[in-house]
Parts: sequence; structure tokens; C-alpha cells
Amino acid sequence: MPTRLAIFASGTGSNFVAIADAIANDQLDAQIEVLVVDKINAPVVQRAAERNIPVFHLKYKDFATKELAEAALVTELQKYAVELIALAGFMRIITGTLLATYPNKIINIHPSLLPAFPGRHGIDDALAAQVSQTGVTIHYVDSGIDSGTIIAQQAVTIEPTDTITTLATKIHALEHVLYPATLAKLISHN
Ligand code: GAR
Repeated sequence: MPTRLAIFASGTGSNFVAIADAIANDQLDAQIEVLVVDKINAPVVQRAAERNIPVFHLKYKDFATKELAEAALVTELQKYAVELIALAGFMRIITGTLLATYPNKIINIHPSLLPAFPGRHGIDDALAAQVSQTGVTIHYVDSGIDSGTIIAQQAVTIEPTDTITTLATKIHALEHVLYPATLAKLISHN
């Protein structure tokens, strides 16, 4: 049976598309049951609509606390019998409610070689720091910012001629291969 996947995203959705394409090409034995977004106008919503994938908009500000918002989210995820959660550019910290419900079942992708350059601007921060290499990390999610146990990592060389645009292009190209491949490995080991 394909693994029942939820993807959480806040932005463009290129990793969402990479995962959906890997599934369509039989490279990943999963099914995206639902896309969870915190911004209904994020371009990723259109990517889901094109594929007839349901979208759940979690309106954090409608809840008194993040824990209550996550409790509502858990109820929604349980409707879809979600087994695995992949964060793909979801720019919010996950708290205990969700972590306790899905222990070791929430995965994130980050555009740097963690623990270096966590946060929202991993690509820019690595370039600004003038390091010679950066990369992509896939890790389990914990309650910190890009801080859980690392599952997979791959490096990208920063050339002296690189700009934000050229470096981001290299990083995203690697993400789109590494994320589906890592999810496929995790799923096959279950
Ligand atoms: C990706 O580069 C991902 O690694 C990053 O957000 C981007 C989302 O792009 N995540 C983080 O920075 C997490 N701290 P996408 O919407 O095109 O998939």
C-alpha cells in the first residue's frame, strides 16, 4: 500500500512538485493525501489544485495558541489517515502536539549543510559567510529550528562566481532529487 503522505508548505512548491512527480513516475511508493498551508495565496496551492490534491489551510491566527492550532491540524490529518509528514518550505516551528502524534514521522528539507545556517535564509546566509561549500539536508523534525536528527546530506560547491540566483538554482536542483529519493528510502525501510 502506498504510504499516506501529507506535505506542509508555505511557498513556491517546487519540492511539492518534485515529490508529486516522483510518485507519478513510480519512484516513490506514496500518495499525497493533503497539502497543508499556512498561507492560502502561496503558489504551492495552485500546484496541488492542478493535481486534484486537497488543500487544508491552517489559519494559526484563528486559534488562541499554536498547540490548539496543531490539535485542529491533527484532527484533519487523521481524517486522511496520514502516516508521514514532509515539510517542504513550511516556515513555522512544529510544537509538541504534532510531534507527539507523529513521532519520527515528520521530515524537513533545508537548503544548507545543517547545523550550519538554519532558519529562513539558508542559501543567502551561506553565500554571505563566504564558505566554500553548502548543500542540502533532510532531517527529522523536532521542536527547534532546523535542528532534528539528520537523515541525509549532500554538498554543493560555492564557486567564487556564484550569485544568490546561481547558487539557489544548484541547491534547488539537488533538493528535487534528494528529497524524493530520501523519502523513498525511508518508506522502503518501514
Ligand atoms: C526550499 O529550498 C527548502 O529547503 C526551504 O524552503 C524552500 C522551499 O522551496 N526550507 C527552509 O528554508 C526551511 N528552513 P519550494 O517552496 O520551492 O519547495
